[in-house]
Amino acid sequence: MASRSKKTDTSTPLPTARQLLDWYDRHARDLPWRISPKARKKGAVADPYKVWLSEIMLQQTTVKTVGPYFLKFVEMWPRVEDLAAASSPEVMSAWAGLGYYSRARNLHACAKVVADQHGGTFPQTEDGLLALPGIGPYTAAAVASIAFDQPAAVMDGNVERVVSRLFAIDTPLPVAKTHIKERLNELVPQKRPGDFAQATMDLGATLCSPKKPACALCPWTEECAANAKGIAETLPVKPPKKAKPTRYGSAYWLTDAKGHVLLRTRPPKGLLGGMDEVPGSEWSEQTTQPTTDEAPAKTDWQQLPGKVTHVFTHFALELTVYTAQAATRSKVEGDWVPLDALAQRALPTVMRKIVAHADPEAAKQFRKKA
Ligand code: ADE
Repeated sequence: MASRSKKTDTSTPLPTARQLLDWYDRHARDLPWRISPKARKKGAVADPYKVWLSEIMLQQTTVKTVGPYFLKFVEMWPRVEDLAAASSPEVMSAWAGLGYYSRARNLHACAKVVADQHGGTFPQTEDGLLALPGIGPYTAAAVASIAFDQPAAVMDGNVERVVSRLFAIDTPLPVAKTHIKERLNELVPQKRPGDFAQATMDLGATLCSPKKPACALCPWTEECAANAKGIAETLPVKPPKKAKPTRYGSAYWLTDAKGHVLLRTRPPKGLLGGMDEVPGSEWSEQTTQPTTDEAPAKTDWQQLPGKVTHVFTHFALELTVYTAQAATRSKVEGDWVPLDALAQRALPTVMRKIVAHADPEAAKQFRKKA
């Protein structure tokens, strides 16, 4: 891999990794999973467990959201063996609110494989990492690069934007990905590839923002073909957004005489798999009248005013919430959970919204948690 790239635009000089690394040495973000360039120079080395954990958490989730979850995980489970030994409900509960819950199930499965089959040591190569549960090409490249300083091309959405602009690649995504990756590959240096990967991420997350990029402050301002052409803000070209359908359903907030609430655990596979839920109806694409037909008990249900709304990746959800007090606990399936113990349960964000709608006082405990 050459550290200088081929020229695509005759009007701009070649960008170098060195320029970006110099910028990173001065402007690297201070992140809880990161070894700063200064500390690295003094000999500090990354902990592959922390790098892997952060990369799984950062998929589809912002740095700001991930911060407190990452700190909580490493406090509860400082080593991969500790995470491997945790129970599934403990892991799902600690992950609750981060979304994309299959990541948490795979994270736990991966920790077990590393602990049981690799003696607690992560493989150092992209191929070795790819063989682990929940590790795809992006994460394998990121861990190989950041934890083991392998010269891998680490391309997330931010990096895609930086490179597509640097070389003015105006083919729409996702077709452009291969070309962008080739260009990135040419830039990856043999020295400090892990810092280079993090530097491209930081550049994309700070100066090279989707709207109004701060080109004047960019270490590649002279080299950027899109900047030279005045088209930086238009790149990368995104495919048209698909319209999101709305699904409709009902949720049933059933309390007992002791003030415990009925929760269930969702099946292990599928959306919110393995997470806890307030019992609910099927979610339908038809806007039929909300009903209590699918409620967990026949009782005197009261429909609450307003709706709970939540947006998932592929659809939006609109829920009507009903509340009732159960005359008896018999014949209902699920767990009766004390209202002050809800923060210990694996309740995803949409379920926390239902709690807030049905019992705002009980929902206050979620704010303290993450
Ligand atoms: N996004 C994904 N991985 C990241 C990392 N290691 N640092 C900053 N942002 C990231």
